[in-house]
Amino acid sequence: MDFLQLATDRYSVRSFSNRPIEPEKMDRILKAGQVAPTAVNFQPQKIYILKSKEAMDKIHSLTRFAYNAPMVLLFCADLSKAWKSSAEPGYNTGEMDVSIVCTHMMLEAWELGIGSVWVRGFDARQVAKAFDLPEHIKPICLLPIGYPSKDSVPYAEWHSSYRPLSETVEER
Ligand SMILES: Cc1cc2nc3c(=O)[nH]c(=O)nc-3n(C[C@H](O)[C@H](O)[C@H](O)COP(=O)(O)O)c2cc1C
Repeated sequence: MDFLQLATDRYSVRSFSNRPIEPEKMDRILKAGQVAPTAVNFQPQKIYILKSKEAMDKIHSLTRFAYNAPMVLLFCADLSKAWKSSAEPGYNTGEMDVSIVCTHMMLEAWELGIGSVWVRGFDARQVAKAFDLPEHIKPICLLPIGYPSKDSVPYAEWHSSYRPLSETVEER
């Protein structure tokens, strides 16, 4: 599929069917994340696949945005691996790196007919505590993922409303 068409067609899926994701498709989605660019290729992503009843109950108690997805990916940055700036003390690229990984996976999923929605509506401290994450593993986002239900539709007012390029792009 033409990439721009794929990127334009993709929308946040918030209503899922209970059809499980085939293992070979999941492998492709994970591979798309593995090949994503990260600063100095440090690959600080840590991805937890939440699908057990216990993990799903937990995530539903921490966010109302897991919807009815059969599986939720919890994307974290391993701050012990992320690139750190010597020029800007305190700055690291963990969140940026993990966001690129997540974007690759979201788009590969869409190419396979699998929907997802990027979620940051949660308290990272509560998620870290509930999943017993070590101090250096920082939750970045969630990706509820699965086949869209038959009645899945984009939130039209969000999905296809774009600021004009003249507002968001400036030549200097
Ligand atoms: C950083 C980020 C955080 C988001 N958090 C949430 C969220 O917590 N809950 C939700 O339903 N959607 C969330 N979204 C999805 C956006 O609302 C959605 O991508 C945007 O409105 C554009 O719509 P579309 O993805 O259907 O094209 C988030 C998206 C991004 C990129």
